[in-house]
Amino acid sequence: MFEAPVPADDAPVVVKRYAVFGHPIAHSRSPWIHARFAEQTKLAMSHGAIEADPDAFPAALAAFEAGGGLGANVTLPLKTLAAGKCRELSPHARRIGAVNTLSRLPSGGWRGDNTDGAGLVADIAERHRLDLRGRRTLVLGAGGAAAGIVHALLDAGIASLTIANRTPERADALADAIGDPARVHTVYWRDLRETGVFELIIDATSAGHGADSLGLPFSLVHPRTLAYSLNYGRAASDFLAWAHAASIEYAFDGAGMLVEQAAESFAIWHGVRPDTEPVYQALRRELAH
Ligand code: ATR
Repeated sequence: MFEAPVPADDAPVVVKRYAVFGHPIAHSRSPWIHARFAEQTKLAMSHGAIEADPDAFPAALAAFEAGGGLGANVTLPLKTLAAGKCRELSPHARRIGAVNTLSRLPSGGWRGDNTDGAGLVADIAERHRLDLRGRRTLVLGAGGAAAGIVHALLDAGIASLTIANRTPERADALADAIGDPARVHTVYWRDLRETGVFELIIDATSAGHGADSLGLPFSLVHPRTLAYSLNYGRAASDFLAWAHAASIEYAFDGAGMLVEQAAESFAIWHGVRPDTEPVYQALRRELAH
């Protein structure tokens, strides 16, 4: 949609400019992932990281647009704020109220999409070849990360969605916003011990970024439980340690989702979906260092 004319052999190559905004952003793997996709698809593009807290974000985005920026990823804590800066939203982003992908509109301003849920479903269903349909699902957390994935899980056919959040009012608010009372329930965190078993348990909390342990009971676990952290690296380690202690066979961090949501963004910008597997394998090697 935003393709520049193909340059003649002796013309300078026009490098299209993309970026990721967040706070903090130094740890982000997005520029690295998009550089691998660009190599693979032979696109001349740059993808940098722009540090911006919520106060600085509007001016930083305006400067990026004025400087010719064509698209951006948006990460914590800017996803909801970024949705409010868009002239257009995809139906999915509108439902979530948060965006992770901005695309420059031909007439100026931004269109917002959210590829997080599609990235999670692609990682589970396509990379790991695990069926989401029919799974009783527990989502831990009710912030922006949880809101970004719940619709995609319901659309993928999970049997039910139970939301547990340390602050129960936020779980209720998310359940109300989803609006599927036949399948969506909430539970108090302190009652997790009595809520039965789940075939899919997703950690969408930010607890792993701090020192707190989630303190999850093993009584949540079913023989076919799939445990998935939306975090990766150190932030996923406490939840994954719990999953291993509970003998859960399928326990994953969010590195695969990270690559898949980036590929979805790449496809929105460039009209081509890169092959994610080699990039995922390379990211795994990077994370192991
Ligand atoms: P945001 O809250 O800005 O949308 P998020 O990372 O999507 O960001 O949300 C953080 C989530 O992690 C929240 O659900 C939060 O619970 P509260 O709503 O009670 O704050 C949850 N969380 C963070 N630390 C936690 C902890 N130590 N134990 C349990 N849940 C925690």
